[in-house]
Amino acid sequence: MNRETQSVKVDEAYQVISRDYDAHRDRSPYFRIIEGLTHRCFYENTEGKSFARGLDAGCGTGRNLPHYLKKCDHVAGFDYTPEMLQFAKEKFQNEKRVRLMLGDVCHLPFPDQTFDLIGSFKVLPHVPKVLEGIREIERVARPGAIIFLEFYSPYSFRYLLNRMKHYTKWHSLRESKRLIARAGLKVRKVYGLRTFMATEYLTYLPGAYQLFNFLENRFTHSGLNRFSGYYVIVCEKQGS
Ligand SMILES: C[S@@+](CC[C@H](N)C(=O)[O-])C[C@H]1O[C@@H](n2cnc3c(N)ncnc32)[C@H](O)[C@@H]1O
Repeated sequence: MNRETQSVKVDEAYQVISRDYDAHRDRSPYFRIIEGLTHRCFYENTEGKSFARGLDAGCGTGRNLPHYLKKCDHVAGFDYTPEMLQFAKEKFQNEKRVRLMLGDVCHLPFPDQTFDLIGSFKVLPHVPKVLEGIREIERVARPGAIIFLEFYSPYSFRYLLNRMKHYTKWHSLRESKRLIARAGLKVRKVYGLRTFMATEYLTYLPGAYQLFNFLENRFTHSGLNRFSGYYVIVCEKQGS
């Protein structure tokens, strides 16, 4: 694995974050909404389909792996931070259909055209040479593959209030689409997430979970997208 394409700070940061990553997400109404939106997007775009090989690019602690397992015969996952990956390995140690490894999205150890379903959720904003990462994903995707790529927007409450700026890159929707086009992928759909939830703390107020869950789900495809904190862009590798 070539660690030179990544700033040292990202794995240092995620080494610390890994200790509370799952516990924080499991108890937070904010993350229940965010992950619910991510899963809605995943299932809406894979409905009625099954896949031979899935790839979770930057799988972290493996929170999304159960969803790939529902859709794919075999699932590979990799992550740059050993401490994050360790949690995923422990969770899936008895699952023979899952293969997990340490890795960098800019240098994937897979042959061309291996996967027919790929997701990279909340990873690319941490990759300094993001175009290299998207090109690698495109390389290992089979023609016709469905690919989910997530970006962080600078035109959002989230950008204004965020404390992770030192190891995060921010791309407007237009920049994200340009990167995807340069990597040779076609955009199918855009989901805007975290458009209304200015901070996580707000979601703990009485009634706030229901309100934000409604608003966020209602406006994923609206023009307000340009102010969303996150974009999940559903792409396709053309050909068949
Ligand atoms: C916010 S977490 C997301 C994890 C998982 N995708 C999820 O949705 O829970 C970001 C992850 O990206 C990983 N990451 C950062 N740079 C990476 C790279 N160049 N290649 C692979 N993973 C990377 C980090 O180690 C971290 O586990």
